[in-house]
Amino acid sequence: MSAQREDRIRRVSAPDIAARKGRQPIVCLTAYTTPTAEILDAHCDLLLVGDSVGMVLHGLPNTVGVTLEMMILHGQAVMRGSNRAMVVVDMPFGSYEADPRVAHANAVRIMKETGAQAVKVESGQDVPETIAYLVRRGIPVMGHVGLRPQSVLVEGAFKAKGRNPAERARVLEEARATAEAGAFCIVVEGVAESLAREITEAIDAPTIGIGGSAACDGQILVTDDMLGLFDWTPKFVRRYADLRGEIDRAVASYAEDVRARRFPGAAETYFTKAAE
Ligand code: KIV
Repeated sequence: MSAQREDRIRRVSAPDIAARKGRQPIVCLTAYTTPTAEILDAHCDLLLVGDSVGMVLHGLPNTVGVTLEMMILHGQAVMRGSNRAMVVVDMPFGSYEADPRVAHANAVRIMKETGAQAVKVESGQDVPETIAYLVRRGIPVMGHVGLRPQSVLVEGAFKAKGRNPAERARVLEEARATAEAGAFCIVVEGVAESLAREITEAIDAPTIGIGGSAACDGQILVTDDMLGLFDWTPKFVRRYADLRGEIDRAVASYAEDVRARRFPGAAETYFTKAAE
């Protein structure tokens, strides 16, 4: 094996994230594009190319319609915009549930064509077997328990999980099985704080909460939600900015300038620049 270039910045790896269990909280956000990844990279330990891209960027009603090709394209964009944070790409609905071999072929495509460090799967009852299959073959896997958005058509809506003892026990069991299968960390979505705490204490892998309370080992949010790009966000999301308002104001000013013929876009501007 050839020597690694020493000047190259080393990305955060799956073992680095796994080693953060119970230590400094892990900072994660979703990313889908190169310019956003460029901004997030300095602040985050992990960037998730989530299949939420289907809803956030492509206007789909849920994540069911997201394809492997979409995930690969956005994974490539995020890899181009980052060089420090770990990049994880979601495996989309239909690409991993039926058969570990199919999951492996699709995960290999994601890893080879994007250069990302890991894939994420929503870990229901049968998926831990697939997680073990992938990990044994060299593919780091992030799990996802609790509210699993890819099950929305069976559930009828995005519903918080663990509202009764049987459901709590099932989510805890899925988290245990996911960790035992070798997932290096697990997203815990839409569960009460007491359940998030129980899961976090029960498993060795770090838990990453989204609507899962501060009891988790780290947190993730959909970046566009926390930046205030939508007029609606889930209750647990704190809006750290009002980008929708900012964009609206900027576009209104632009429209005013155009209508008033106040527009410095003439070719002379370019000629001047070139001559400088
Ligand atoms: O697709 C996604 O963005 C996710 C996060 C919300 C965890 O799965």
